[in-house]
Amino acid sequence: MAKIVNSWNDFDPLKRVIVGRADFSVIPPEEPATSEKVPVDSAMRGMWGPRPTETVEKANAQLDYLAKVLEDNGVTVDRPEPLQWNQPVITPDFRTDSMMTCMPPRDILLTIGSEIMASANSFRCRYFEYLAYWPLMNKYFEEDPEFKWTQAPRPRLTDASYKHNYYDEKISLEERLERTANKDFVTTEVEPMWDAADVLRLGKDLFIQHGLTTNRKAMEWFKRYYPDLTVHAVNFPGDPYPIHIDATFVPLRPGLIINNPQRRLPEEQRAIFEANDWQIVDAAMPAHKEPPPLCYSSVWLSMNCLVLDHKTVIIEASEHNQAEQMDKLGMNVIPVPFRDAYPFGGALHCATADVYREGGCEDYFA
Ligand code: NVA
Repeated sequence: MAKIVNSWNDFDPLKRVIVGRADFSVIPPEEPATSEKVPVDSAMRGMWGPRPTETVEKANAQLDYLAKVLEDNGVTVDRPEPLQWNQPVITPDFRTDSMMTCMPPRDILLTIGSEIMASANSFRCRYFEYLAYWPLMNKYFEEDPEFKWTQAPRPRLTDASYKHNYYDEKISLEERLERTANKDFVTTEVEPMWDAADVLRLGKDLFIQHGLTTNRKAMEWFKRYYPDLTVHAVNFPGDPYPIHIDATFVPLRPGLIINNPQRRLPEEQRAIFEANDWQIVDAAMPAHKEPPPLCYSSVWLSMNCLVLDHKTVIIEASEHNQAEQMDKLGMNVIPVPFRDAYPFGGALHCATADVYREGGCEDYFA
Protein backbone atom coordinates (compact mmCIF):
# COMPACT_ATOMS: atom_id res chain seq x y z
CA MET A 1 0.00 0.00 0.00
CA ALA A 2 1.43 3.35 -1.03
CA LYS A 3 1.13 6.87 0.26
CA ILE A 4 -1.09 8.69 -2.22
CA VAL A 5 -2.16 11.87 -0.45
CA ASN A 6 0.26 14.50 0.88
CA SER A 7 0.37 18.25 0.27
CA TRP A 8 1.16 21.18 2.54
CA ASN A 9 1.46 24.06 0.12
CA ASP A 10 1.06 25.13 -3.51
CA PHE A 11 4.70 25.00 -4.62
CA ASP A 12 6.53 21.83 -3.59
CA PRO A 13 7.05 19.28 -6.42
CA LEU A 14 3.65 18.16 -7.69
CA LYS A 15 3.29 14.41 -8.26
CA ARG A 16 -0.46 13.79 -8.33
CA VAL A 17 -3.40 16.10 -8.99
CA ILE A 18 -7.12 16.12 -9.79
CA VAL A 19 -8.15 17.97 -12.98
CA GLY A 20 -11.84 18.93 -13.29
CA ARG A 21 -14.29 18.09 -16.08
CA ALA A 22 -16.84 20.40 -17.73
CA ASP A 23 -19.46 17.77 -18.70
CA PHE A 24 -23.12 18.68 -18.06
CA SER A 25 -22.19 22.10 -16.59
CA VAL A 26 -25.07 24.42 -15.81
CA ILE A 27 -25.31 28.14 -15.12
CA PRO A 28 -27.27 27.93 -11.87
CA PRO A 29 -30.39 29.99 -11.19
CA GLU A 30 -30.07 32.98 -8.86
CA GLU A 31 -30.04 32.23 -5.18
CA PRO A 32 -29.17 34.33 -2.13
CA ALA A 33 -25.38 34.00 -2.34
CA THR A 34 -24.75 33.71 -6.08
CA SER A 35 -26.55 36.78 -7.36
CA GLU A 36 -24.29 38.97 -5.23
CA LYS A 37 -21.26 37.78 -7.16
CA VAL A 38 -22.40 38.27 -10.75
CA PRO A 39 -21.29 41.75 -11.85
CA VAL A 40 -24.30 43.93 -12.72
CA ASP A 41 -23.13 44.42 -16.31
CA SER A 42 -22.53 40.70 -16.87
CA ALA A 43 -24.41 38.95 -19.68
CA MET A 44 -24.98 36.13 -17.20
CA ARG A 45 -27.31 38.15 -15.01
CA GLY A 46 -30.73 36.51 -14.89
CA MET A 47 -29.62 33.70 -17.20
CA TRP A 48 -29.55 30.06 -16.20
CA GLY A 49 -29.61 26.58 -17.69
CA PRO A 50 -27.21 24.05 -19.24
CA ARG A 51 -24.15 25.60 -20.85
CA PRO A 52 -24.05 25.31 -24.66
CA THR A 53 -22.62 21.95 -25.78
CA GLU A 54 -19.91 23.41 -28.00
CA THR A 55 -18.55 25.45 -25.07
CA VAL A 56 -18.48 22.30 -22.90
CA GLU A 57 -16.58 20.44 -25.63
CA LYS A 58 -14.04 23.25 -26.02
CA ALA A 59 -13.50 23.45 -22.26
CA ASN A 60 -13.06 19.69 -22.01
CA ALA A 61 -10.51 19.74 -24.85
CA GLN A 62 -8.41 22.27 -22.90
CA LEU A 63 -8.83 20.38 -19.63
CA ASP A 64 -7.72 17.16 -21.37
CA TYR A 65 -4.71 18.97 -22.83
CA LEU A 66 -3.78 20.28 -19.36
CA ALA A 67 -3.98 16.69 -18.08
CA LYS A 68 -1.65 15.57 -20.89
CA VAL A 69 0.89 18.32 -20.17
CA LEU A 70 0.87 17.35 -16.50
CA GLU A 71 1.40 13.68 -17.34
CA ASP A 72 4.23 14.60 -19.72
CA ASN A 73 5.81 16.35 -16.73
CA GLY A 74 5.63 13.26 -14.54
CA VAL A 75 2.40 14.12 -12.68
CA THR A 76 -0.30 11.47 -12.19
CA VAL A 77 -3.70 12.92 -13.10
CA ASP A 78 -7.04 11.84 -11.66
CA ARG A 79 -10.42 13.01 -12.96
CA PRO A 80 -13.79 13.36 -11.19
CA GLU A 81 -16.99 11.64 -12.33
CA PRO A 82 -19.43 14.38 -13.36
CA LEU A 83 -23.08 14.03 -12.37
CA GLN A 84 -25.99 15.19 -14.48
CA TRP A 85 -25.82 18.68 -12.92
CA ASN A 86 -29.15 19.84 -14.37
CA GLN A 87 -31.15 18.53 -11.41
CA PRO A 88 -32.68 20.39 -8.47
CA VAL A 89 -31.09 20.36 -5.03
CA ILE A 90 -33.66 19.69 -2.33
CA THR A 91 -32.88 19.43 1.38
CA PRO A 92 -35.11 19.88 4.45
CA ASP A 93 -33.98 23.54 4.49
CA PHE A 94 -34.03 24.75 0.89
CA ARG A 95 -34.66 24.00 -2.75
CA THR A 96 -32.80 25.37 -5.76
CA ASP A 97 -33.49 24.37 -9.34
CA SER A 98 -30.10 23.11 -10.45
CA MET A 99 -26.55 22.20 -9.52
CA MET A 100 -23.53 23.68 -11.32
CA THR A 101 -20.46 21.69 -12.42
CA CYS A 102 -17.36 19.86 -11.21
CA MET A 103 -14.89 21.98 -13.10
CA PRO A 104 -13.26 23.87 -10.28
CA PRO A 105 -12.14 21.13 -7.86
CA ARG A 106 -10.07 23.72 -5.96
CA ASP A 107 -13.28 25.26 -4.55
CA ILE A 108 -14.43 21.95 -3.09
CA LEU A 109 -11.38 19.96 -1.97
CA LEU A 110 -8.83 21.13 0.59
CA THR A 111 -5.70 18.99 0.97
CA ILE A 112 -3.75 19.43 4.19
CA GLY A 113 -1.07 16.81 4.72
CA SER A 114 -2.62 13.36 4.32
CA GLU A 115 -6.18 14.70 4.61
CA ILE A 116 -8.54 15.82 1.87
CA MET A 117 -11.59 17.61 3.19
CA ALA A 118 -14.70 18.53 1.23
CA SER A 119 -15.63 22.14 2.00
CA ALA A 120 -18.71 23.86 3.43
CA ASN A 121 -19.74 25.98 0.44
CA SER A 122 -22.23 28.80 0.74
CA PHE A 123 -23.82 28.31 -2.71
CA ARG A 124 -26.88 26.09 -2.50
CA CYS A 125 -26.27 24.90 -6.08
CA ARG A 126 -22.93 23.43 -4.97
CA TYR A 127 -24.38 21.38 -2.13
CA PHE A 128 -23.84 18.00 -3.80
CA GLU A 129 -20.83 18.83 -5.98
CA TYR A 130 -18.56 16.78 -3.71
CA LEU A 131 -20.23 13.61 -5.02
CA ALA A 132 -18.21 13.87 -8.26
CA TYR A 133 -15.03 13.38 -6.22
CA TRP A 134 -16.25 10.59 -3.95
CA PRO A 135 -15.16 7.75 -6.27
CA LEU A 136 -11.60 9.18 -6.17
CA MET A 137 -11.74 9.68 -2.40
CA ASN A 138 -12.84 6.08 -2.01
CA LYS A 139 -9.98 4.89 -4.20
CA TYR A 140 -7.42 6.87 -2.17
CA PHE A 141 -9.01 5.51 0.99
CA GLU A 142 -8.64 1.93 -0.19
CA GLU A 143 -5.08 2.35 -1.45
CA ASP A 144 -3.49 4.72 1.09
CA PRO A 145 -3.78 3.57 4.71
CA GLU A 146 -2.84 7.05 5.98
CA PHE A 147 -5.39 8.97 3.90
CA LYS A 148 -7.88 10.93 6.01
CA TRP A 149 -11.13 11.35 4.07
CA THR A 150 -13.13 14.15 5.64
CA GLN A 151 -16.22 16.23 5.12
CA ALA A 152 -16.45 19.59 6.91
CA PRO A 153 -19.72 20.19 8.80
CA ARG A 154 -22.42 20.72 6.17
CA PRO A 155 -23.99 24.17 6.47
CA ARG A 156 -27.79 24.14 6.46
CA LEU A 157 -27.99 27.16 4.13
CA THR A 158 -31.38 28.26 5.37
CA ASP A 159 -32.47 31.82 4.62
CA ALA A 160 -30.77 32.83 7.88
CA SER A 161 -27.36 32.14 6.32
CA TYR A 162 -27.65 35.16 4.01
CA LYS A 163 -28.31 38.87 4.18
CA HIS A 164 -31.23 39.29 1.82
CA ASN A 165 -31.27 42.12 -0.72
CA TYR A 166 -27.69 42.75 0.28
CA TYR A 167 -26.80 44.07 -3.16
CA ASP A 168 -29.18 46.18 -5.10
CA GLU A 169 -28.65 46.30 -8.89
CA LYS A 170 -27.90 50.00 -8.57
CA ILE A 171 -25.15 49.74 -5.99
CA SER A 172 -22.02 51.54 -7.17
CA LEU A 173 -18.54 50.09 -7.38
CA GLU A 174 -17.44 52.48 -4.63
CA GLU A 175 -20.14 51.13 -2.31
CA ARG A 176 -19.08 47.58 -3.06
CA LEU A 177 -15.49 48.43 -2.23
CA GLU A 178 -16.63 50.15 0.96
CA ARG A 179 -18.44 46.99 2.01
CA THR A 180 -15.36 44.87 1.32
CA ALA A 181 -13.26 47.29 3.37
CA ASN A 182 -15.81 47.10 6.20
CA LYS A 183 -15.87 43.28 5.94
CA ASP A 184 -19.60 43.43 5.32
CA PHE A 185 -20.44 40.40 3.15
CA VAL A 186 -23.58 38.63 1.92
CA THR A 187 -23.18 35.67 4.24
CA THR A 188 -24.18 35.86 7.91
CA GLU A 189 -22.43 34.24 10.84
CA VAL A 190 -25.06 31.69 11.84
CA GLU A 191 -22.86 28.74 10.77
CA PRO A 192 -19.37 28.15 9.33
CA MET A 193 -19.27 28.45 5.53
CA TRP A 194 -16.17 28.29 3.35
CA ASP A 195 -14.87 27.49 -0.10
CA ALA A 196 -11.60 25.58 -0.22
CA ALA A 197 -10.21 28.11 -2.74
CA ASP A 198 -10.27 30.78 -0.02
CA VAL A 199 -7.65 28.84 1.94
CA LEU A 200 -3.99 29.45 1.15
CA ARG A 201 -1.82 26.71 2.63
CA LEU A 202 1.73 27.56 3.64
CA GLY A 203 2.79 24.63 5.80
CA LYS A 204 2.04 25.37 9.44
CA ASP A 205 0.12 28.51 8.50
CA LEU A 206 -3.24 28.87 6.76
CA PHE A 207 -4.14 32.28 5.29
CA ILE A 208 -7.89 32.35 4.76
CA GLN A 209 -9.72 35.07 2.83
CA HIS A 210 -12.74 36.50 4.58
CA GLY A 211 -15.10 37.46 1.77
CA LEU A 212 -18.28 36.58 -0.07
CA THR A 213 -17.73 32.81 0.12
CA THR A 214 -16.01 32.34 3.50
CA ASN A 215 -17.20 33.80 6.80
CA ARG A 216 -15.58 34.51 10.17
CA LYS A 217 -17.15 31.50 11.83
CA ALA A 218 -15.24 29.32 9.35
CA MET A 219 -11.97 30.84 10.63
CA GLU A 220 -12.95 29.91 14.17
CA TRP A 221 -13.87 26.40 13.00
CA PHE A 222 -10.45 25.99 11.31
CA LYS A 223 -8.67 27.11 14.50
CA ARG A 224 -10.39 24.44 16.54
CA TYR A 225 -10.09 21.71 13.89
CA TYR A 226 -6.38 22.26 13.29
CA PRO A 227 -4.96 23.24 16.71
CA ASP A 228 -1.40 22.63 15.44
CA LEU A 229 -1.75 25.09 12.57
CA THR A 230 -1.96 28.87 12.76
CA VAL A 231 -4.98 30.43 11.06
CA HIS A 232 -4.72 33.99 9.74
CA ALA A 233 -7.78 35.82 8.43
CA VAL A 234 -6.86 38.01 5.45
CA ASN A 235 -8.78 40.65 3.53
CA PHE A 236 -8.16 42.37 0.23
CA PRO A 237 -9.97 45.71 0.35
CA GLY A 238 -9.57 46.55 -3.37
CA ASP A 239 -11.75 43.64 -4.49
CA PRO A 240 -15.44 44.43 -5.12
CA TYR A 241 -16.22 40.68 -5.45
CA PRO A 242 -13.89 38.95 -2.97
CA ILE A 243 -14.18 35.25 -3.79
CA HIS A 244 -11.27 32.81 -3.67
CA ILE A 245 -7.74 33.86 -2.86
CA ASP A 246 -6.04 32.37 -5.92
CA ALA A 247 -6.38 35.29 -8.32
CA THR A 248 -5.27 37.67 -5.59
CA PHE A 249 -2.41 36.26 -3.53
CA VAL A 250 -0.41 33.44 -5.12
CA PRO A 251 2.79 31.88 -3.71
CA LEU A 252 5.40 30.73 -6.25
CA ARG A 253 8.03 29.25 -3.94
CA PRO A 254 9.11 29.61 -0.30
CA GLY A 255 9.69 33.34 0.26
CA LEU A 256 7.90 34.64 -2.86
CA ILE A 257 4.26 35.63 -3.45
CA ILE A 258 2.62 37.56 -6.27
CA ASN A 259 -0.17 39.90 -5.15
CA ASN A 260 -2.87 41.41 -7.35
CA PRO A 261 -1.93 45.14 -7.52
CA GLN A 262 -5.63 46.13 -7.32
CA ARG A 263 -6.18 43.97 -4.25
CA ARG A 264 -3.13 44.57 -2.09
CA LEU A 265 -2.80 42.86 1.25
CA PRO A 266 -3.15 45.60 3.92
CA GLU A 267 0.04 46.78 5.64
CA GLU A 268 -0.77 45.24 9.01
CA GLN A 269 -1.35 41.84 7.37
CA ARG A 270 1.90 42.08 5.39
CA ALA A 271 3.90 42.28 8.59
CA ILE A 272 4.17 38.53 9.12
CA PHE A 273 5.55 38.04 5.60
CA GLU A 274 8.03 40.90 5.87
CA ALA A 275 9.18 39.78 9.32
CA ASN A 276 10.06 36.40 7.79
CA ASP A 277 11.80 37.78 4.68
CA TRP A 278 9.04 36.87 2.24
CA GLN A 279 8.87 39.05 -0.84
CA ILE A 280 5.41 40.17 -2.00
CA VAL A 281 5.56 41.30 -5.63
CA ASP A 282 2.78 43.02 -7.62
CA ALA A 283 1.51 40.60 -10.27
CA ALA A 284 1.86 41.61 -13.94
CA MET A 285 -1.16 43.18 -15.63
CA PRO A 286 -3.49 40.72 -17.39
CA ALA A 287 -3.13 40.48 -21.18
CA HIS A 288 -6.92 40.71 -21.67
CA LYS A 289 -9.36 43.55 -21.03
CA GLU A 290 -12.35 41.23 -20.57
CA PRO A 291 -12.88 37.68 -19.37
CA PRO A 292 -14.38 35.29 -21.99
CA PRO A 293 -18.21 35.26 -22.41
CA LEU A 294 -20.33 33.69 -19.65
CA CYS A 295 -17.41 33.75 -17.20
CA TYR A 296 -17.86 34.45 -13.48
CA SER A 297 -14.26 35.46 -12.90
CA SER A 298 -12.20 38.56 -13.55
CA VAL A 299 -9.30 39.11 -15.97
CA TRP A 300 -7.03 38.39 -13.00
CA LEU A 301 -7.28 34.70 -13.78
CA SER A 302 -4.00 35.69 -15.46
CA MET A 303 -2.25 35.03 -12.12
CA ASN A 304 -4.19 31.83 -11.29
CA CYS A 305 -1.25 29.62 -12.19
CA LEU A 306 -0.36 26.06 -11.28
CA VAL A 307 3.12 25.74 -9.75
CA LEU A 308 4.77 22.37 -10.51
CA ASP A 309 7.86 22.95 -8.37
CA HIS A 310 9.98 25.86 -7.09
CA LYS A 311 11.20 26.61 -10.63
CA THR A 312 8.32 25.58 -12.92
CA VAL A 313 4.88 27.05 -13.42
CA ILE A 314 2.00 26.47 -15.84
CA ILE A 315 0.32 29.68 -16.98
CA GLU A 316 -2.37 30.47 -19.53
CA ALA A 317 -0.77 30.61 -23.00
CA SER A 318 -1.98 34.10 -23.98
CA GLU A 319 -0.93 35.77 -20.69
CA HIS A 320 2.36 37.12 -22.04
CA ASN A 321 2.81 39.79 -19.33
CA GLN A 322 2.51 37.17 -16.64
CA ALA A 323 4.89 34.85 -18.55
CA GLU A 324 7.48 37.60 -18.81
CA GLN A 325 7.22 38.34 -15.11
CA MET A 326 7.54 34.66 -14.19
CA ASP A 327 10.67 34.46 -16.31
CA LYS A 328 12.15 37.49 -14.49
CA LEU A 329 11.30 35.87 -11.17
CA GLY A 330 13.35 32.83 -12.18
CA MET A 331 10.49 30.48 -13.08
CA ASN A 332 10.38 28.28 -16.18
CA VAL A 333 7.00 28.77 -17.84
CA ILE A 334 4.90 26.04 -19.44
CA PRO A 335 2.16 27.80 -21.47
CA VAL A 336 -1.20 26.02 -21.72
CA PRO A 337 -4.23 27.47 -23.58
CA PHE A 338 -7.10 27.62 -21.13
CA ARG A 339 -9.48 30.51 -21.84
CA ASP A 340 -12.20 28.17 -23.11
CA ALA A 341 -12.25 26.58 -19.64
CA TYR A 342 -12.42 29.91 -17.71
CA PRO A 343 -16.25 30.24 -17.85
CA PHE A 344 -16.61 26.88 -16.12
CA GLY A 345 -15.01 28.08 -12.92
CA GLY A 346 -11.57 29.54 -13.37
CA ALA A 347 -8.04 29.00 -14.56
CA LEU A 348 -5.25 26.52 -13.97
CA HIS A 349 -5.13 26.59 -10.19
CA CYS A 350 -8.93 26.56 -9.84
CA ALA A 351 -9.24 23.65 -12.29
CA THR A 352 -7.03 21.40 -10.18
CA ALA A 353 -6.78 20.07 -6.62
CA ASP A 354 -3.60 18.80 -5.03
CA VAL A 355 -3.31 15.12 -4.17
CA TYR A 356 0.43 14.68 -3.69
CA ARG A 357 3.31 17.11 -3.45
CA GLU A 358 6.67 16.16 -2.07
CA GLY A 359 7.73 17.83 1.17
CA GLY A 360 6.33 18.15 4.64
CA CYS A 361 4.79 20.68 6.99
CA GLU A 362 7.33 23.51 7.14
CA ASP A 363 7.18 26.43 9.53
CA TYR A 364 7.81 29.44 7.28
CA PHE A 365 6.69 32.04 9.83
CA ALA A 366 8.58 31.20 12.97
N1 NVA B 1 -12.63 36.46 -7.47
C1 NVA B 1 -11.70 35.91 -8.32
C2 NVA B 1 -11.86 34.46 -8.59
C3 NVA B 1 -10.58 33.85 -8.90
C4 NVA B 1 -10.49 32.40 -9.01
C5 NVA B 1 -11.61 36.71 -9.57
O1 NVA B 1 -12.45 36.58 -10.44
O2 NVA B 1 -10.69 37.48 -9.68
